[in-house]
Amino acid sequence: MLDLSQAGAELAKHYDLAPSIEKAEATQDIYEKMKRVVSPADWAIYAPYVIEINRLKKERNAVILAHNYMTPEIYHGIADFVGDSLQLAIKATEVEEEVIVQCGVHFMAETSKILNPSKTVLMPDMAAGCSLAESITAEGVAEMRAKYPGAPVVSYVNTTAEVKAASDICCTSANAVQIVDAMEADTVIMAPDQYLAQNVANLSKKKVVYWPGSCIVHELYTAEDLRAYRELQPETKIIAHPECTPAVVAEADFTGSTSGIIKWVEDNRPQEVMLVTECSMASNIADELPDVNFAKPCNMCPYMKKITLEKVLYALHTMEGAVEVEAEVAEKARLAVERMIDLSRELGL
Ligand code: 13P
Ligand code: SF4
Repeated sequence: MLDLSQAGAELAKHYDLAPSIEKAEATQDIYEKMKRVVSPADWAIYAPYVIEINRLKKERNAVILAHNYMTPEIYHGIADFVGDSLQLAIKATEVEEEVIVQCGVHFMAETSKILNPSKTVLMPDMAAGCSLAESITAEGVAEMRAKYPGAPVVSYVNTTAEVKAASDICCTSANAVQIVDAMEADTVIMAPDQYLAQNVANLSKKKVVYWPGSCIVHELYTAEDLRAYRELQPETKIIAHPECTPAVVAEADFTGSTSGIIKWVEDNRPQEVMLVTECSMASNIADELPDVNFAKPCNMCPYMKKITLEKVLYALHTMEGAVEVEAEVAEKARLAVERMIDLSRELGL
């Protein structure tokens, strides 16, 4: 496990990371993208890290792929590409640089490694997991297959490489309904998110059976809370991620992947909107949309929040934290992810 005080001491030997008003001023163009949500004092703390990371990135021939749940200083400050899980997976296939630094959770880094195996894929904190990925193993997939013989397994990308390798095809929140509908069988097994599966079942022609996993962030929202909020603020648009329960999704004005949510808000520019998902989503688009008011509550993903500027700098400095996937597992998992990407393209998603 990464020892933070040791990492801090090592970084201090090589870089001047003290808060600096001069460095904050020198990076004002970056700060402009987050000034509504990051204070000038905080930017004076972040700026020295942002400068060193962006310099080291070039030296190491590295690219930073960041998920939409990263904090604004990562999302706007150091990322070369930001997106939802599907977009990050597709981008990983296109990277030409030697090194990918994955600012997201472990399954995303594994997916990048599976899709672009000759690259070094660095995970700034190996403990950045996911409650969904942790909820099922390849044995669980085998159990489901035994229970529903002949039914194809559509596994969410929020799974380990072993689970992907045991599946027929993957899906993400951006293409789940279309992927399930494209299966030939009448019954489709979805794993591991029970709520995504139920939400897909409500929109799909297929009978969907599922594994009982859940996302610890999205399962916290309740339909009662949203109804109470709507009563107080009837103008508020409620936008949910499909990892929320079907009752929450039923209360929402729109449901979509993280990038789908961002696009909806950019296109519709509601006066007041509640993003029923991870907190950084609203922060990352707040400055681009000054006329939109983002209502709380939001919930924080403790796994995504393990990724910090300090850990990214340490990963690039030491080149430690490379993700490896055993060759046989990687080969089978690649088939499942590539099938998803190919089918998404075919379906125009
Ligand atoms: P997206 O694929 O919509 O970005 O979702 C990933 C995730 O982990 C949401 O909790
Ligand atoms: Fe996993 Fe939920 Fe965190 Fe997404 S928000 S990474 S599904 S725990």
